Amino acid sequence: MGRAGGVCTAAILLLALHLCSCASELNFASVPIVDDVPANQLAKFTSCIVDCALEPARIFFPFRGCIWGDKQAGDTSCVIKKTCFLDCFKPEEARPQGVYTNRYDLERTSFVVEPAFSPATVNQTSFKITNQWIVDGSVYAQPLYAPQVKVSKFVTKNLVIIATEYNSVYAFDADTGEQVWKINLTIGRVVNSTDIPSVPSRPGGACNDIAPYYGITSTPVIDPETNIVYVMSLSIEGTTVDSAAYRLNALKLGSGEPIEGSPTAPVAGSRLFPNSQFPNNATTFVAIKQHQRPGLVLYKGLVYAAFGSHCDRPPYFPWLFAFSSKSLAIEHFWTSPIFISRFAPAQPSQQNVTAGGPTIWQGGTAPTIFNNSLYVVTGRGPVQPQNGGYGNAILRFPLDLSDVEDYFIPANGVYLDNVDLDLGASGAIAIKDKYIITGGKQGPIYIADASNLGGYQPTANNSNVFQVINPTALEFNNPTANTIYSGPAYWEANGGQIFIRGRRAQPSLFRYAWDKTTGKLSAQPTAHQNPASGVGVFQNRASNPVIQAVSKTATEGILWEIDEQASLFAWDAMSLNLIYRSNNTGVCGGTPSSSTGVVKFQLPTIAAGKLYLGCGDRVLTYSLA
Ligand SMILES: *[C@@H]1O[C@H](CO)[C@@H](O)[C@H](O)[C@H]1NC(C)=O
Ligand SMILES: *[C@@H]1O[C@H](CO)[C@@H](O)[C@H](O)[C@H]1NC(C)=O
Ligand SMILES: *[C@@H]1O[C@H](CO)[C@@H](O)[C@H](O)[C@H]1NC(C)=O
Ligand SMILES: *[C@@H]1O[C@H](CO)[C@@H](O)[C@H](O)[C@H]1NC(C)=O
Ligand SMILES: *[C@@H]1O[C@H](CO)[C@@H](O)[C@H](O)[C@H]1NC(C)=O
Ligand SMILES: *[C@@H]1O[C@H](CO)[C@@H](O)[C@H](O)[C@H]1NC(C)=O
Ligand SMILES: *[C@@H]1O[C@H](CO)[C@@H](O)[C@H](O)[C@H]1NC(C)=O
Ligand SMILES: *[C@@H]1O[C@H](CO)[C@@H](O)[C@H](O)[C@H]1NC(C)=O
Repeated sequence: MGRAGGVCTAAILLLALHLCSCASELNFASVPIVDDVPANQLAKFTSCIVDCALEPARIFFPFRGCIWGDKQAGDTSCVIKKTCFLDCFKPEEARPQGVYTNRYDLERTSFVVEPAFSPATVNQTSFKITNQWIVDGSVYAQPLYAPQVKVSKFVTKNLVIIATEYNSVYAFDADTGEQVWKINLTIGRVVNSTDIPSVPSRPGGACNDIAPYYGITSTPVIDPETNIVYVMSLSIEGTTVDSAAYRLNALKLGSGEPIEGSPTAPVAGSRLFPNSQFPNNATTFVAIKQHQRPGLVLYKGLVYAAFGSHCDRPPYFPWLFAFSSKSLAIEHFWTSPIFISRFAPAQPSQQNVTAGGPTIWQGGTAPTIFNNSLYVVTGRGPVQPQNGGYGNAILRFPLDLSDVEDYFIPANGVYLDNVDLDLGASGAIAIKDKYIITGGKQGPIYIADASNLGGYQPTANNSNVFQVINPTALEFNNPTANTIYSGPAYWEANGGQIFIRGRRAQPSLFRYAWDKTTGKLSAQPTAHQNPASGVGVFQNRASNPVIQAVSKTATEGILWEIDEQASLFAWDAMSLNLIYRSNNTGVCGGTPSSSTGVVKFQLPTIAAGKLYLGCGDRVLTYSLA
């Protein structure tokens, strides 16, 4: 075994410690070792047969280091070859790619590399549902994927983490499909939509924005360094809705066990605005009025959570909290003052409502991290930046959330508030190390220079923002405009492309290319989903598109998205021609989740040759059959 001779021993021992910690379980007694190995020396193996009825890829010798087996799926024994030992000490490969956060990265670009899927391999016959996990509630949170998680002393697994509106978190084995653990985070009982009654603007019934349960809506976030997953749950802990409480949970990825300090005390905060011109100077967090919809963020030791409203039920406020990822204590928070009467005259019934606002909901998109700042996009709310009212705004915060550092509000921000055309129906993406891009319910896409967002200039016709494009070129202030309920997706290939999915009664998927000459996005779409096809119309709360390519630099790729029946669509990302379409009508749904299978704003999670799609009551796995 010359290659593994003395020169490498020190390094090998270090490596061995590391590697062996992720070895699989085996009955050691049954391992026949042909050549004896002195302590702390390299082993010399000849051929040997090992009984490995379990599923080991690595076989662990407690005092001798570890070796690779070559067991194939289904084998009940495996042969360890002479060379296996050398393989064991190969420098450890980087942990395979995981999906640890909403929309794949902190910039929320929704771009993912997956070698298995390309326009050449994915088609109507090759791509199929190959598994499904029925869970106990709707899956609004994006499924996450964590490779090589140690689930017991010697066993590592690739895990898919699923959170439900019934307050459950599941870990499934991505390879075998088995459930590895499940934890119920309800304390008391889960909030249901009848706990949140109607609002003046939507008289009658409950807030059925999400039904029937409001448990975990936001995408959790995983720390791959510590193997902890952070999850925000909501329960009614006592007898009345006033006892509703959000708590941040920090669970060990391998077992689902909470770490010390988890769950946190109920999320709470209050801030005085002493110079407020409004009658009530304190903004206080009331859990039942707030909805924690945007995905969680983990950055530099802080876990950020953003809050908006349930169905605009007043009073509600924008809240941002930053928790220590270690102690779970709230380190920072931000909110805004109370405002009243701002809906008049457009909605007279709400004239004197103490409205608060704005909301941060972002169609579920997590806040964006770029250049050591945190960005959110707000929905309807008072447009009075001089008084701390940042409705319909792109906001930049320092990481300590001390105050709004810069902002942009479209020229018609007040109008957007009056008619409920939230700018922040989607989140923002950060691209090209320079721009923050968002588009809201009205339709235009705003491209802001991150270092100077543009402020609020109601008479400047948006000349204060870097660029505005309008995918449907509809009139300014036209409430019937194409609406955007999903974040743009960004693909760096071919000079940079932005993808927009509109919600409209006609095909409205657009690609805009970066124009090298002007340094801006093309004013008109570079590609447009075939309007004649009639296929892929997303009328209600459209999808969040994901761009996937076989490598970072590949120049062809696939745009994946989910429609309101939880059906999956794959488009050639350059031509926007349809290459695959599932029909999931009736597949998802049932008790206790929504009866239609609709989960708004969901996006597919693609990892290790599989695609996971969360819907009304289950997660579907797709792969090349
Ligand atoms: C579909 O893709 C598979 C590869 O995944 C390929 O072998 C097959 O020829 C394709 N079928 C069509 C009709 O393109
Ligand atoms: C979760 O726990 C709550 C509170 O103990 C309980 O009422 C509920 O039935 C549990 N849910 C599940 C799915 O076990
Ligand atoms: C929702 O909660 C109410 C109590 O506020 C309860 O009466 C009702 O049965 C619950 N509905 C569901 C679907 O759990
Ligand atoms: C609000 O602040 C103003 C100015 O500091 C003060 O005069 C007023 O009493 C405060 N109102 C309440 C309800 O605390
Ligand atoms: C709002 O308050 C004003 C002033 O008190 C009053 O004239 C108006 O009728 C109220 N509007 C509603 C809808 O209650
Ligand atoms: C990044 O942050 C630095 C420091 O605050 C600032 O000077 C610079 O303009 C920022 N760059 C962008 C593109 O936002
Ligand atoms: C405002 O901008 C729009 C779109 O760029 C343009 O068509 C319009 O002429 C501008 N209006 C003014 C008053 O500058
Ligand atoms: C999808 O499947 C449903 C139920 O099987 C069927 O009624 C519907 O026509 C199908 N739609 C399409 C577009 O194939």
